[in-house]
Amino acid sequence: MAEATQQQALDELQAKIEASGVTPELQSQATQLVFGVGSPDADILFIGEAPGKNEDLKGEPFIGAAGKFLNEMLETIGLTREDIYITNIVKYRPPNNRDPLPEEKEAFLPYLHEQINIIKPKLIVTLGRHSMDVLLPGLKISEVHGQPKRHKGQIYLPLFHPAAALYNGAMRQTLIDDFSLIPTIVEKI
Ligand code: URA
Repeated sequence: MAEATQQQALDELQAKIEASGVTPELQSQATQLVFGVGSPDADILFIGEAPGKNEDLKGEPFIGAAGKFLNEMLETIGLTREDIYITNIVKYRPPNNRDPLPEEKEAFLPYLHEQINIIKPKLIVTLGRHSMDVLLPGLKISEVHGQPKRHKGQIYLPLFHPAAALYNGAMRQTLIDDFSLIPTIVEKI
């Protein structure tokens, strides 16, 4: 698929989600759907948890403190947000930034799969346990972070969530170290 066609398919998917009433409770409390940003034919797709306050207001994922750290880590491997694609499993902000509920993640999963099928990334990087749980069920993030996993023909790299590492120096370094593996993993695919 050409890049313009992929972008069009993503736009159509976004409109479909907005019209679907996928999680009416979340939708009614959120400012807007936070669908995703970046290159529609990116080699690397990053998937976080759910939008926070800033993301809900701006309609863009990972623009708060965790997003700033994510940008810094991208820079360390020579990438910018335009080179990759970033989204979340749950695309409406949960009230008061609570964890997304299992049924909310389930409700969004078919749409996430559609998004993945349009972008067709070489590598999916899950950020935190929520996106890992739905795509790579049964794993423990503390045991598998930084280890590439093949599941149903797709390569994944589970990483800790950047927000969890913000105020934890050891975890911050672990995340930076895990991140440094990304270029070699993509090269080998
Ligand atoms: N945390 C996430 O998981 N996603 C965002 O978009 C912002 C913060």
